[in-house]
Amino acid sequence: PAPRVPVVCIDGPTASGKGTLASQTAQRLGYLYLDSGALYRITALAAIRAGLALDQAHEHSIASMAERLPVAFEQGRVLLGGDDVTDAIRTEEAGMNASRVSALPAVRTALVALQQSFRRLPGLVADGRDMGTVIFPDAQLKVFLTASAARRAERRHKQLISKGFAPTIDTLRADLEARDARDSQRAVAPLKPAQDALLLDNSEQSVEDSVAQVLAWWEARQPFAAT
Ligand code: DC
Repeated sequence: PAPRVPVVCIDGPTASGKGTLASQTAQRLGYLYLDSGALYRITALAAIRAGLALDQAHEHSIASMAERLPVAFEQGRVLLGGDDVTDAIRTEEAGMNASRVSALPAVRTALVALQQSFRRLPGLVADGRDMGTVIFPDAQLKVFLTASAARRAERRHKQLISKGFAPTIDTLRADLEARDARDSQRAVAPLKPAQDALLLDNSEQSVEDSVAQVLAWWEARQPFAAT
């Protein structure tokens, strides 16, 4: 059989640092990078711009938009129909809206093929909630990244302050716990570690240490890398 294109999955809750860890790991390996959460964020934004409420009544309309999302990732910018939405999809509200549309099963199904199309040589690092459980169940390495809610709120707070917003840490923590609850309790593809995932808690770990850990796990999984 043809060798499978390598995939590293990094799943975990909101603000656990998945994006940073996954994109740096991809860079170190020279692999493509998929930020699957961005696709849900873009879908939610596209639906809102089309005047659709993000609820079950609009599940099929939102899903059909998701299926032909005019999205492009270019030099670190995210384009929706040619419009630069990089900043618009990064707000807390955009995250909450993404969480809402992501609970609609037809929307999840509509985004499967697009996500899988990122699996190309030389390899892919994908981050999200269900990379290891649903989208790439045969991935060669699955990491489930966690950090305490207190730590995640603190990090998010620092990030937002540097961008000039300043909600309190308590508000941020309440919001991310609410999003965790919705993402973990939904019926389809809930946030949970794949059975064969390795757990990584980065509460007390630097980004460099987390990247080094994932690279070490990856090396250990490579039949060909040990030269
Ligand atoms: O990782 P993120 O914060 O950008 O994700 C935004 C929301 O999208 C998240 O709250 C739940 C949803 N999501 C998902 O359901 N499955 C994924 N693979 C990625 C994100």
